[in-house]
Amino acid sequence: MSENIAMMEEQFNRRIAEGETIEPNDWMPDKYRSQLKRLISQHAHSEIIGMLPEGNWITRAPSLRRKLALLAKVQDEAGHGHYLYSSAETLGISREEMFGQLHTGKAKYSSIFNYPTLAWADMGMIGWLVDGAAIINQTTMAKCSYGPYSRALLRICKEENFHKKQGMEIIATLIASGEQGKAMVQESFNRFWWPTLMMFGPHDANSPNSPDMMKWKIKLKGNDELRQRFIDMTVEQAQAWGLTVPDPKLRFNEQTRSWETGEIDWNEFNAVISGNGPCNHERLNVRRTAHDQGAWVREAARAYEAKHRRSSETAE
Ligand code: 3HC
Repeated sequence: MSENIAMMEEQFNRRIAEGETIEPNDWMPDKYRSQLKRLISQHAHSEIIGMLPEGNWITRAPSLRRKLALLAKVQDEAGHGHYLYSSAETLGISREEMFGQLHTGKAKYSSIFNYPTLAWADMGMIGWLVDGAAIINQTTMAKCSYGPYSRALLRICKEENFHKKQGMEIIATLIASGEQGKAMVQESFNRFWWPTLMMFGPHDANSPNSPDMMKWKIKLKGNDELRQRFIDMTVEQAQAWGLTVPDPKLRFNEQTRSWETGEIDWNEFNAVISGNGPCNHERLNVRRTAHDQGAWVREAARAYEAKHRRSSETAE
């Protein structure tokens, strides 16, 4: 490493230690940049792929009010994807490159979206559990060291709060409707509980990216701490609704005042993140088709931009 780079890196680390925000034109180590490109693009892909399991239910929503709320939520996810792709672009990666990584299966996206949505109760479950988990992860990350990501997350978290509440309202309504509604919620809870715990990633000891990300305050908390925060909050909400957490090993530790769970099935997690989950192929195929079918829109937008540029040059 040249003396100059070593000096820049020292200055960069000092800025991070002092809690300064790093902006796109600031000097940053190559690895800081590449970690952010990886993280933010994966997050953007998660938002876009995350539209699919819920999108499946828009035409089957049980009332107009539910349809409107679900439609708005799915549109919000598209908006989140756009903020995040824009935020990643500030690091010098193009949207085409990111889409290419997603469509060829090179880039990851959240494991949770590779599970099917089989019942209307799943719309409630996604709001309560999946958006709930995302909020815990992202409100922490909203204080991260990279300005464009941090600002995108602040806005995203506000909308995710609405998503979580609409999910909880669906669950509360189903439970209040009687035994059949409650059974539908319990069945959905049984399917979504473990995959939601997997969203937080591997245990810290098996998380190769955490050391760098924590050193640079991209991540402010480890995967296990955030997962535990989610478990402690959610188990009590489940109990308040009279739901059973599908984990025979679940127990309250009086000393730590915290809920202990059985072990996550890491074989399942690894299969899902390497492309072999229940819906990976379906999700990517739908995404690729949507991208191909949107080619004319991109072409029209480029033609419009070129025409607009030509006419403003002529006017000058
Ligand atoms: N799904 C898919 N891949 C996962 C994963 C998950 N749940 N958890 C970990 N991984 C991958 C990592 O991406 C990494 O792979 P890579 O090195 O090839 O990129 C590998 O497993 C090892 O994991 P690490 O713990 O080392 O990875 P990270 O330090 O990046 O931590 C994370 C993983 C906690 C998920 C982190 O990436 C993160 O906080 N991401 C930002 C938030 C995000 O992407 N959320 C998606 C949730 S969905 C959402 O927000 C949509 C909303 O509508 C609900």
